Amino acid sequence: MPYSEAGKTKFQIDLRRHLRNQNIEDNLVHLICEIAEASKYVINAVRTGDLGVAGTSNLYGEEQLALDVLSDRIIRKRLIHSGVVCNIASEEMDEIFQAQANAAGLYSVAYDPLDGSSLVDVNLAVGTIVSIYVGCDLLQEGRNQVAAMYILYGPRVSLVYSVGNGVHEFTMNHLMEFTLTRENVQMKPAGDIYSPGGLRNKYSEGVEKYVRYLEAKGSKLRYSGGFVPDINQVLMKGKGLFMYPALNGSPNGKLRLLFELNPMAYLVENAGGSATNGKQRILDLKPESLDQRAPIFIGCAEDVAKAMEYVNGG
Ligand code: F6P
Ligand code: MN
Repeated sequence: MPYSEAGKTKFQIDLRRHLRNQNIEDNLVHLICEIAEASKYVINAVRTGDLGVAGTSNLYGEEQLALDVLSDRIIRKRLIHSGVVCNIASEEMDEIFQAQANAAGLYSVAYDPLDGSSLVDVNLAVGTIVSIYVGCDLLQEGRNQVAAMYILYGPRVSLVYSVGNGVHEFTMNHLMEFTLTRENVQMKPAGDIYSPGGLRNKYSEGVEKYVRYLEAKGSKLRYSGGFVPDINQVLMKGKGLFMYPALNGSPNGKLRLLFELNPMAYLVENAGGSATNGKQRILDLKPESLDQRAPIFIGCAEDVAKAMEYVNGG
């Protein structure tokens, strides 16, 4: 079916075709398409898999894996078989998994297989987040990513990616193909929604004042507790910000740099927004360990700049 944009009728563009027009290596096109394929099995597990925790049995007495563990295996297998990946790290793994030794033309991938997985129990949206680097080093600054993407499992399944040349959204159709629905998503300079993570009574004085400032200017609270849908709302509406600040007792907040913050910061920056930990750009942080966490303020550039002023006592 054709879709219409700015008065012109166009034919649907699928993910592979769109990627081929991005002027990137064939191996990267292949890798992103493989991850998109894997997501079809993840959404199937999310939609129809038994709820509950690892170690329980299903109707047939077969042992069930928790959805996050299952999603991790689905994606890891696909990455290994892609033939273009050397190192793999995921939120579900304790250490780096080497799929192939260092060789030219390979990529490394850090991913969160099923972010917010406990939300499936209450039927809220969840997602997969992916960060891609050239070569085998996964402990490098996020600014070196060559691609980032997420797949959002909501009422519809959407895939949002960037290879450094704009941010593009695809939606899964009835044939489970991803077709282009928004090209070159752009964030406005400022917005009127905010998505604040963590416990407010553990916020610093600066962050508490910033929230009061947002409330006073009429920003609406929009928080689902799922990082992917919450970021997707800010990014697709092009307005507002998401934050997960430092908390009293958790100076680095909650979210992880490699699997959550870097890929989202890359996407939001590519749409004209910004992302900071309050002092430094997220994409300039040098990761020292796989499970490193950082506070984050991410979204419209002016909203993020204002957050920094408040956080730093201005
Ligand atoms: O990965 C952790 C996560 O579930 C994110 O999806 C979400 O943004 C965050 O935690 C929510 O945390 P909290 O319940 O502390 O606000
Ligand atoms: Mn997560």
